[in-house]
Amino acid sequence: MNSTKDTPFTFAVNVAQATLEQYDNHITRTLSSMKGQYLDAATYEAMLPEEDRLLYEVYEIRRPETAGELLHGLSVVHPGKVGSEYFMTKGHFHTVLETAEVYYCLKGQGCMVMETPEGDWAVEELRPGRVLYVPPRWAHRSVNTGADEDLVTFFVYPGHSGHDYGTIEQQGFRKLVVEENGQPKIVDNPRWRGPESR
Ligand code: F6R
Ligand code: ZN
Repeated sequence: MNSTKDTPFTFAVNVAQATLEQYDNHITRTLSSMKGQYLDAATYEAMLPEEDRLLYEVYEIRRPETAGELLHGLSVVHPGKVGSEYFMTKGHFHTVLETAEVYYCLKGQGCMVMETPEGDWAVEELRPGRVLYVPPRWAHRSVNTGADEDLVTFFVYPGHSGHDYGTIEQQGFRKLVVEENGQPKIVDNPRWRGPESR
């Protein structure tokens, strides 16, 4: 396990399959963990009893959660939609707001939806070979806009960042990504509950 290592180490990314040769922790998130996040609440409620679908998975290399460390691993968002809204991660601010993150896309098609507490927002495309730099202060959520392929990204962020999920759970993101006429489209979130809307 890497957590006990204080010497350099290497491991392989299987680029063709977009998998890691080794990892210490495997997190799975299903539909039931996304309550209140999808705009089409009626479709969400109807889907739940049918199957608690697996939406995304994270494979982590464990490192100490301290400032000098870099936490890293693989994020896999599966394809699918709730109504017209694509499968996505919960999304979060880092608890230490002034911490950034780098994502390298290995597989699939999608985007990162981002916003700051100051009211800025951005949506950047993720596709194989692209690197996304998420600056400090930007909340981030990955969205798989592909029809039948996983969206796989390798991520790296400072060890002391922490995760604030509560703010996004309460207020949502300003922007949503939905399918319209077979294409991804960025739309305003009518249920956004940030400070300016209250
Ligand atoms: C870590 C990070 C990613 C996400 C992963 C799952 O800071 O941004 O590793 O944790 O893509 O998304 P969340 O954490 O929003 O469920
Ligand atoms: Zn993050």
